[in-house]
Amino acid sequence: MKNQILINAKLNKFNKEITISGDKSLSIRWVLFSSLATGISKATNLLLSEDVLAALEAIKKLGIKVKITKKNCLIYGKGINGYCYKKNIIINAKNSGTLGRLILGLLIDTPYKIKIIGDQSLSKRDFRRVTEPLEKFGAKFELSKKRYLPLTISGSNNLRPIKYIENKGSAQCKSSVILAGLRTNGKTFIKAKKSRDHTELLCKYLNLPLKIKKKKNFDLIEINKATSYSPLNYEIPGDISSSAFFLALTALSNKSKLLIKNVNTNPSRIGIITILKKMGVKIKLKNIRNYKGESVSDIFIESPKKLKSINCPKKLNSGAIDEFLVIFLVAAKANGISQFRNLSELNQKESPRLTWGSKILNLMGVKNITTNDSIKIYGNPNLKINKKIIINNYLKDHRVFMTSVIAALSFGGVWEIHDKDSINTSFPEFLKIVNFLNK
Ligand code: S3P
Repeated sequence: MKNQILINAKLNKFNKEITISGDKSLSIRWVLFSSLATGISKATNLLLSEDVLAALEAIKKLGIKVKITKKNCLIYGKGINGYCYKKNIIINAKNSGTLGRLILGLLIDTPYKIKIIGDQSLSKRDFRRVTEPLEKFGAKFELSKKRYLPLTISGSNNLRPIKYIENKGSAQCKSSVILAGLRTNGKTFIKAKKSRDHTELLCKYLNLPLKIKKKKNFDLIEINKATSYSPLNYEIPGDISSSAFFLALTALSNKSKLLIKNVNTNPSRIGIITILKKMGVKIKLKNIRNYKGESVSDIFIESPKKLKSINCPKKLNSGAIDEFLVIFLVAAKANGISQFRNLSELNQKESPRLTWGSKILNLMGVKNITTNDSIKIYGNPNLKINKKIIINNYLKDHRVFMTSVIAALSFGGVWEIHDKDSINTSFPEFLKIVNFLNK
C-alpha cells in the first residue's frame, strides 16, 4: 500500500462537532503509574497509538499483565516492587521520548542491566539530560556516544536522594526524577522551570508523597519514598496537542466553526489557545470541569475575519511546545511579522522542528528568518499556493506530516506528503477526522 498522500484541494468551510483521541502524555503516564499500583487499574479512552502500545509492551517485559478489550485497558499491578527484573531485558521505546525517559526513573533499582532502544528518530535524541540526574541517585548508565540510545541502565539497591535543577522546562526530565524520587529513601528536591504537570497531578491524586511550592517561573518539588498505592481508574480526556491541528485548520479557514468535546485543557498545556486568541481567533473553553486534578473542557473555535501577527511571549513556549509547527502556519497568514524566540528545545523533538517549520514555510514561499532558537515569519493574509510541494525525509515526525496536511488543506497547491504511517505514533484517527470535516 502506498504510504503517501496527495492533496490538491482546499477544504470547504465546515461547522462540526468532533472528539479527539486520548491525551498521549496522560496515556503513557497512566500505563507507568498503573504498572506499580497494587491491584487492577482500568483506563477508558486510552490512546492506542504506537507510543502508548510501546509503553504497554515495556511493562509486559517487566512482568506486568495487560489486557486490552474493545472498551478499555486493564493493567494488573503487583505493587511498588512488583516488576519482575531478569537478565537480558530489552525495552523498545520506539518513537517515544516520554516512555524512554520516564521509564528510566522507574528502573532506577534494577539489579540487572536493562537495555533501552528506540527508532531512528529517538536514537538521535539526547538522553544525557535524564541519565545525568539519575546517576546521582546511584544508577549507572552506558550510552551510545555518551548521549544517545541504545543505552543500558544498571540500578542500585542503595539509592540516595538528590537535589536537581531542571532548567530546560522539560516535563520528561522532571518526571523521570520524580519517579526515581518515589523509589528512593529520603527527600529528593527539584527546582523545575514550568512545564506540563501531569505527573505531579497524578501523584497528588494517588496520595503519593510529593509536595509542590509554586513560584512565578519555577516550581519547588519535594518527593519522598512511596509505599503501596491504589489502582488508578482513569478516563483519558482528548489530547490538546492533537486538537491543535484542527484549531489551526479552523483559524486558517473562512467562516468555519468547530466544537471539540472533552479535551484535556490543563493550564500547563493550553499555550496554543492563548497564542491563537492573541492573534485574533475567537476561542472559548466551555463546560470546564475538574477530572481527578486535571482540567477538562469543550473547545469552541470560529474562523477569524483577520489574523494578527504575534510577538510571542517566551513564557508561553512550554505550554505550546508541541504545537509550534501549526502555530507557524497560522503566522504565515497573519497580517504582519510574527516572532518566536527561545525555542532551541524545538530542535530536540522527534525531528528538528524549528528547522522543519522553516523548511515548510520556505516551500510554501513564506519568507522567514530562522536561527537555532528563533523564527521571524513574514505573514501574508492573501497567501495562496499554486505549485507542487513534496514533504519527505523528515524522520517520520508525526507532527510534520499532520502540519503539512493542514497547510495543504488551508493554502492550496498540490502536496505529496510521504510517510502517512507516522500518524500512528500519536493520532491514528487524524485522517478520518479530516475526511469527516470535508463531508
Ligand atoms: C512530554 C513533554 C514534552 C513534549 C512531549 C511530551 C511529556 O517534552 O514535547 O511531546 O509527556 O512529558 P519535553 O519534556 O522534552 O519538553
